Amino acid sequence: MKFGHFDDRNREYVITRPDTPLPWINYLGCQSYFGIISNTAGGYSFYRDARLRRLTRYRYNGVPLDRGGRYVYLRDDESKEFWSPSWQPTQHALTDYSCRHGMGYTVIGSSYKGIEAHTRYFVPLDENLEIWQLTVTNRRNTPATLSTFASIEFCLWDAQDDATNFQRNLSIGEVEIEDGVIYHKTEYRERRDHFAYFACSRPGAGFDTQREAFLGPNRGWDKPATVEAGQLTNSIAHGWSPIGAHQVKLELAPGETQQIVFVLGYQENPRDKKFDPPGSQTINKSLVKPVIAKYLHSKAADVAFERLRHHWDSVLNIFQVDTPDIHTNRMVNIWNAYQCMATFNLSRSASSFESGIGRGLGFRDSNQDLLGVVHVEPARARTRILELAATQFASGGAYHQYQPLTKRGNNDIGGGFNDDPLWLILGVSAYLKETGDWSILDEPVPYDNEPGSEEPLYDHLRRSICYTLERLGPHHLPLIGRADWNDCLNLNCFSSEPGQSFQTSTSKDGKVAESVFIAGLFVHAGRELAAISCHRGLHAEGSRWRSEVAKMEQTVLEHGWDGEWFLRAYDDFGNKIGSSECEEGKIFIESNGFCVLAGIGLEDGKAASALAATREHLATPHGLVLLQPAYSKYYLQLGEISSYPPGYKENAGIFCHVNPWVMIAETRLGNGNEAHDYYTRINPSAREEISDVHRCEPYVYAQMIAGKDAPTFGEAKNSWLTGTAAWNYFAITQAILGVRTTYDGLQVAPVIPASWPGFTGRRTFRGVVYEISIKRDGPGNDIALSVDGEPIEGNIVPPPIDGRKQVSVRGVLG
Ligand code: BGC
Ligand code: NOJ
Repeated sequence: MKFGHFDDRNREYVITRPDTPLPWINYLGCQSYFGIISNTAGGYSFYRDARLRRLTRYRYNGVPLDRGGRYVYLRDDESKEFWSPSWQPTQHALTDYSCRHGMGYTVIGSSYKGIEAHTRYFVPLDENLEIWQLTVTNRRNTPATLSTFASIEFCLWDAQDDATNFQRNLSIGEVEIEDGVIYHKTEYRERRDHFAYFACSRPGAGFDTQREAFLGPNRGWDKPATVEAGQLTNSIAHGWSPIGAHQVKLELAPGETQQIVFVLGYQENPRDKKFDPPGSQTINKSLVKPVIAKYLHSKAADVAFERLRHHWDSVLNIFQVDTPDIHTNRMVNIWNAYQCMATFNLSRSASSFESGIGRGLGFRDSNQDLLGVVHVEPARARTRILELAATQFASGGAYHQYQPLTKRGNNDIGGGFNDDPLWLILGVSAYLKETGDWSILDEPVPYDNEPGSEEPLYDHLRRSICYTLERLGPHHLPLIGRADWNDCLNLNCFSSEPGQSFQTSTSKDGKVAESVFIAGLFVHAGRELAAISCHRGLHAEGSRWRSEVAKMEQTVLEHGWDGEWFLRAYDDFGNKIGSSECEEGKIFIESNGFCVLAGIGLEDGKAASALAATREHLATPHGLVLLQPAYSKYYLQLGEISSYPPGYKENAGIFCHVNPWVMIAETRLGNGNEAHDYYTRINPSAREEISDVHRCEPYVYAQMIAGKDAPTFGEAKNSWLTGTAAWNYFAITQAILGVRTTYDGLQVAPVIPASWPGFTGRRTFRGVVYEISIKRDGPGNDIALSVDGEPIEGNIVPPPIDGRKQVSVRGVLG
């Protein structure tokens, strides 16, 4: 069952009924002002940091779901009926409801009794504000007299404090009204130098800024007393809950259309120019007024919207493909690329499932997110890499996360996740391969942001690799530390008290528990670092990394092999995890996927055996589960992984982040059919027809689909912000389609399904547009390439030496 359809030409998903199984959201903003918006106008906005600079309120865990939003109400002032064109919050039955989620914008609208209304929501490039363009058309053959209301609820900035500290917060709310603009200035009197505003393009028939006045006592957003009565009360908030609500009257002749523009924004003032007149408590509005005035014009809003569309066109046009599979095309060309930008921008902070206060930017997460965006945002990727590296310790270890606003690491969920440092090498290598900008390695970067501790970025990479080498266990495999990629495999934790964090409840510096996954990651990252060292002319050092990699490979083959597949780990007692000897958790996806991806066991058949076992034990029609058999009870020595009911999350859920490792591994063995088959099983577009089962948005990946042990097998959760986005993008573009960046140029080495006659693509790489056309002439993966008609040796296309900006690459596959 579907709740809408893709409109690929417009790069939109069109939702045609409001009662989607869950709020289906989109993101507004792509630089510093952001918001989430659901298909029924729920959601919230923030400046840079969803925790520390929250502009508007949203009620996670609320009932009904998805309350707090950018709510518009219409009222027929003759019949006194009112409704929301976005369905929520009034839930009035509507005709022709639609929500178009596009690239950085959302349009929601409907008709009711001959009144058509649509609101287009977006954030203009380079501005810290959002625009709501409400267009109302009278399709009746009589004139219509309407009141329109637009409303938001302000958050008192720190979303965590806002949701908990009522003894203070109910007394501090302050607003100002000037020229019909509502300014929210809570805490501006003291240490804040920023405020929010909500403006409207038409002279208002009224406003409200106190929630209780707007809603009326004992009412919710579904039935505000003022909207029902047809008149706002011009309330001024003193404490309690400041809101912004505008009322505009519309007289519409039959067939007439009118537009109202609302602008919600964030503004900072210089500290010494906060007030006007100086010494007063009145906001100095000299900076903000011209901005507000500009965007309240429909024309200016339209121009800003066109600029935004153009921006996304150019972002997405960097890589476009045309394959025989529509789901591949749609994800690569539009939605997966778009999701990669959202994860890069927001890490795991703000979605329907991430409350915006839990996590900042994760060290490993953000490094992996780079894989999906480095080709479109090389400059921002560079900045991000340097920021991440600055949160690394001199030991080579890293804070697990940092706050985007302060850029400082924090220990909220601990440090000492022993895989963390290695991801930095992969982030940097992806950047170098894409850009060829080797100068980044010379950038001085501090440790733990300590001034004076700066060393070239290259030294950070060196410390990353040494961090693993200095922490080897009894089998000479890497010690796992607090956990590895799998945050829930807590082998040094032994948490027995409810409410303890699984990751931080102990300080045990375990010297026994080892991770085969980290070993695989080390091999992969070590090879990259060796190549980077050699490129810098440090050949002896490069050789040293190569020999450490070779040693680790041997160790994995000896102590990390279970007979048919790779082990997952050794626990604190030296017992095997992910072995046929185990009662539960006999086989895991991470070590098998990553070890083969890293090339371990390719020669002696172990890789093929590991992937065959993965297929046999972990594959389901909805994707590959993380482990089998699921843990049926809590194991003190394993930690959070066994806390989840079987089939969910890390306990045998279909963890979509790790599925692509197996896809990539399959391509290393030349298995294009298997790789693309796994790709399709979790591809959201390919699952659109079962939206009632999948339940999350069919246009983006979710972190998890419930596994076969779960009663809700096939149901997705935690959509949008997940490493799944970058890894699937990487798997399909670089491994399966095989359009791969290398230090030396663009490689073209597809491992596609045998049934595909070929594909075409266009990839901009280091300033050159490569038009790629692949034709199949046999069932294999050998490729013969010609560049601008001339056959070349090998599969790496040399950069044009004569300054050409357009190159045609033809490949015959067989
Ligand atoms: C896992 C969660 C876990 C969290 C702890 C995440 O990586 O997916 O299940 O609760 O880590 O920080
Ligand atoms: C989500 C976390 O953000 C990520 O860092 C982790 O690797 C996976 N869950 C697996 O636990």
